[in-house]
Amino acid sequence: MSRIVYVNGEYLPEEEAKISIFDRGFLMADGVYEVTSVLDGKLVDFDGHAVRLERSLRELEMNQDFSKEDLLTIHRELVARNEIVDGLVYLQITRGSDGDRDFAYPAADTPTTLVLFTQSKPALVSSPAAEKGLKVISIEDQRWARRDIKTVQLLYPSMGKMMAKAAGADDAWMVEDGAVTEGTSNNAYIVKGNTIITRHLSNDILHGITRAAVLRFAAEAQMKVEERSFTVEEAQGADEAFITSATMFVTPVVEIDGRAVGTGKPGSVAGRLRDIYIEESRKVAV
Ligand code: PDD
Repeated sequence: MSRIVYVNGEYLPEEEAKISIFDRGFLMADGVYEVTSVLDGKLVDFDGHAVRLERSLRELEMNQDFSKEDLLTIHRELVARNEIVDGLVYLQITRGSDGDRDFAYPAADTPTTLVLFTQSKPALVSSPAAEKGLKVISIEDQRWARRDIKTVQLLYPSMGKMMAKAAGADDAWMVEDGAVTEGTSNNAYIVKGNTIITRHLSNDILHGITRAAVLRFAAEAQMKVEERSFTVEEAQGADEAFITSATMFVTPVVEIDGRAVGTGKPGSVAGRLRDIYIEESRKVAV
């Protein structure tokens, strides 16, 4: 069955959706995006994603043409029309097009392009990756310096995924000045005893919406949280490691550059945080 997608005010079968070849998202990667997970047909942390989207637009001086309420309506309509139970909604806003290619931005009143589509993920909760754990490799972080803005410039993270695949691993953790920044599409954590360690917020990493929720739940569960940099060596010697994202929730990491982390099996802290995250997210999804 073809999906119903949303493009600039219209709900259309995916085959009929069209965007200009001059769209700056296509020509310049001049666009931002959000991925919101859907559990039991409801949106997880929609508010968090909407606030980060507003910030991304503001940081890039892109027009805010849609209210949070408009976006919530479109998200819900797409989830309903595509009968999504567990899965995600992808949203992208680009600076649009004034009908030609130019490095300078188009006139300020040029409408942005808004596209949304859904993906059904029946294995979102009972994911094989969560049961087995992920193997990651470390690679140099070669992205631009504003990783706090969720732009669609994803070529280097895609290359990182391919490097991981070529090495027989699942994902890559990126490293800058000797410290892990984040995974190709997730935030990175290690666990030592009762302490969860994850890189502090700055322009060097995306401010994960899942990260914020998980750190809150961890503190509520009396775990200690340290927001600081860590090296690959420290991660390899940790008791556990894990990642978080809207699509992976909390997923354990069991191997880094061929070295087992802890027992080499998914750890109990990651498992517990995953359970708490899913349970609490179900309660407050909208
Ligand atoms: N990626 N860091 C990076 C580089 C990311 O791309 C993502 C999310 C995260 C986690 O953020 P959040 O918890 O808000 O999903 C961290 C999404 C899922 C993606 O690109 O598909």
